[in-house]
Amino acid sequence: MKLFMDTANVDHVAEVAAWGVLDGVTTNPSLVAKEGGADFKETVLKMCELVPCVSAQVTAADFEGMKKQGEEYSGWHKHVVVKVPMTVEGLKALRYFRSKKIPTNTTLIFSVNQAVLAAKAGANIISPFIGRLDDIGEVGMDLIRDIMEAWSHYDFDTEVLVASTRNTDHIKEAAQAGAHISTIPYKVFMELPKHPLTDKGLQKFLEDWEKVKK
Ligand code: E4P
Repeated sequence: MKLFMDTANVDHVAEVAAWGVLDGVTTNPSLVAKEGGADFKETVLKMCELVPCVSAQVTAADFEGMKKQGEEYSGWHKHVVVKVPMTVEGLKALRYFRSKKIPTNTTLIFSVNQAVLAAKAGANIISPFIGRLDDIGEVGMDLIRDIMEAWSHYDFDTEVLVASTRNTDHIKEAAQAGAHISTIPYKVFMELPKHPLTDKGLQKFLEDWEKVKK
């Protein structure tokens, strides 16, 4: 499973990229707004130097606008993936970008039917949002399991990216479901390497080594 970070913070990307496990970054307008006044293009370009796949979301609602923005973004760097919302206009844009070999990620997927439509339109990546389904009392991870089951019947080359993850169990279950990618907030990323028995075990090894070392 590829691991992406869900952020618009370049320092956080640089920190985890140094671990050697980071495959990409997803941004969205809300994450960009959270970082204050940082220039979007500059942020995306810095991230493209750190990881091979950076999703940059179009903000236009119509096909022509998405096409214009997406072409501009993809011209910035070869690592840019154009993020398109799951709307009818978005489907038209996905088809257009596929014909131009511009990679895309479809955002705001909440059903298997939306996932199938986006894949058929030519999305390279689809992003089902599981945390937001949990928020309204559903089991978001069920959507990932259902999409992976549907994918097992066909030859879609569209990767399933588990988005809106909120905790380490989401990442574990995404891997168990066979999802292709998980995008992970920085705070959750920091939890992934930890286990109390690792810390305890290491402390004991080091204490014992102190006793025997010459
Ligand atoms: C994915 O690409 C989105 O940026 C993200 O995962 C949304 O997560 P949220 O529901 O925590 O805002």
